[in-house]
Amino acid sequence: MNKNIVCIGAGYIGGPTMAVVAKMNPDRKVVVVDINKSRIAAWNSKNFALPIYEPGLVDIVKEVRGKNLFFSTDIDKAIRECDIIFVGVNTPTKMFGRGKGRASDLQYWEATARNIKKIAKTPKIVVEKSTLPVRTAAAMEAILNSEDDGKFTVLSNPEFLAEGTAIKDLLNPDRVLIGGPQTPAGLAAVRAVVDIYRGQQGAWVPEKKILTTNVWSAELTKLAANAMLAQRVSSINALAGLCEATGADIEEVARVMGADHRIGPKFLKAGPGFGGSCFKKDVLNLVYLCESFGLHTAAEYWSQVIKMNDHQQERIVSRLFKAMFNTLANKKIAVFGFAFKANTGDTRETPADTVVRLLNEEHVRLAITDPKALDNAKKDLADIASDALAFVSDPYKAAKDADAVLVMTDWAEYPTLDWAKIYKSMRKPALVFDTRNCLDAVALRKLGFKVLNVGK
Ligand code: NAD
Ligand code: UGA
Repeated sequence: MNKNIVCIGAGYIGGPTMAVVAKMNPDRKVVVVDINKSRIAAWNSKNFALPIYEPGLVDIVKEVRGKNLFFSTDIDKAIRECDIIFVGVNTPTKMFGRGKGRASDLQYWEATARNIKKIAKTPKIVVEKSTLPVRTAAAMEAILNSEDDGKFTVLSNPEFLAEGTAIKDLLNPDRVLIGGPQTPAGLAAVRAVVDIYRGQQGAWVPEKKILTTNVWSAELTKLAANAMLAQRVSSINALAGLCEATGADIEEVARVMGADHRIGPKFLKAGPGFGGSCFKKDVLNLVYLCESFGLHTAAEYWSQVIKMNDHQQERIVSRLFKAMFNTLANKKIAVFGFAFKANTGDTRETPADTVVRLLNEEHVRLAITDPKALDNAKKDLADIASDALAFVSDPYKAAKDADAVLVMTDWAEYPTLDWAKIYKSMRKPALVFDTRNCLDAVALRKLGFKVLNVGK
């Protein structure tokens, strides 16, 4: 077996994951391929203008690109020359036919599997890196091995990194999960992938953090982990509404709840609701799986996590409406942050998109600012009339003459802005709705701002 690795899909998962795989395995050649030519060109760009922003990513790419990490559109050549193929193509929510709006759209995955089957002449280990419904590996193995009995072994190796901390998460993961068939060939394939994560001379993930299971447990664990995290966000946001109604403070409630080590402090931050490409998609996928197996009460339970999340964004607009004297028409609102969380330029499923659209229906003039996500924001909101919407990189300019600042993303620079200057440039009464509770509300009130927070 050679040590070459290919990853099909050069997106948010494929790019950072393989950059770290290459860094920690200098003795292996790692090739990342994609059908998207401009994406590959960006990964290969001379000035390292990478297609995604992740803290620390560019330094690793500078270190390994051209040495043992390569980006290419020649998918077939890469498949021919390797033994281990990671597949990290997108698996969005299906928007048509059976399972519409809930099931995963597996067409990209299946196209990839059929291409591997067509091109590969030697045995391959095919590793699911994408998040997939339970039993997808079995279906893919059936396609791959339909003529060449046993040439392909399919494993599940879901990725748990979070955007914004991807490099940190990859270098020091809580755990790595590898699911494989419990057969001699399956166990050998699992060992081959464990060796990648151990790194050259065991320098990467300690053996005890690499957990192995059967394939279906691995597939389900990924959906379950995201659903549990999303559920915590919806639970804390459900409590935030109650805090606003009763005078309790969600940060105090979360701090004390989180001090119980059985609950823990993470994922208890109230805010505008969860965004990102995966939480909604994966919870919907879980709902669909439950329904498919006749587990209707479980399906209904998980679907409430999404319902609560949607409600949170509607609640934000309602509170803003009320605080601005029940009329928003022709007022100006500066939206601080469009990314779904800080430290990423990713805007997929961002709560800011929903809120901006609801505000647009009220004929608000909007100025959107974000340090990393402005290009994506422009693409996402291209359907909204340009006289209703401005994209401004300078937050001071965005806030000028505004009636309100709406903080949607907790970028580290926002608390350090000169808020006295912002206050002076705004129309009075000046409002700040800090949906991330990341600013000093007491200091803002002293400056003259009216301040709204989530859960207070
Ligand atoms: P993405 O859209 O950023 O990247 C997917 C890439 O696959 C695209 O560049 C696309 O052009 C490419 N692709 C699609 N079909 C192809 C084909 N037939 N051949 C070659 N390339 C093809 O998506 P992503 O965010 O990287 O997510 C990919 C998968 O990883 C999803 O299943 C997602 O659930 C999972 N995941 C993502 C994250 C994350 O943080 N984004 C974390 C964990 C798991
Ligand atoms: C999430 C998971 O955390 C990763 O483990 C997983 O690999 C990934 O999904 C995936 O499968 O794609 P990600 O979506 O990148 O990672 O980011 P998170 O940090 O989980 O945040 C998700 C959303 O929840 C963000 O909008 C964030 O602002 C929100 N959130 C998070 C809160 O509102 N409150 C919190 O306490 C935590």
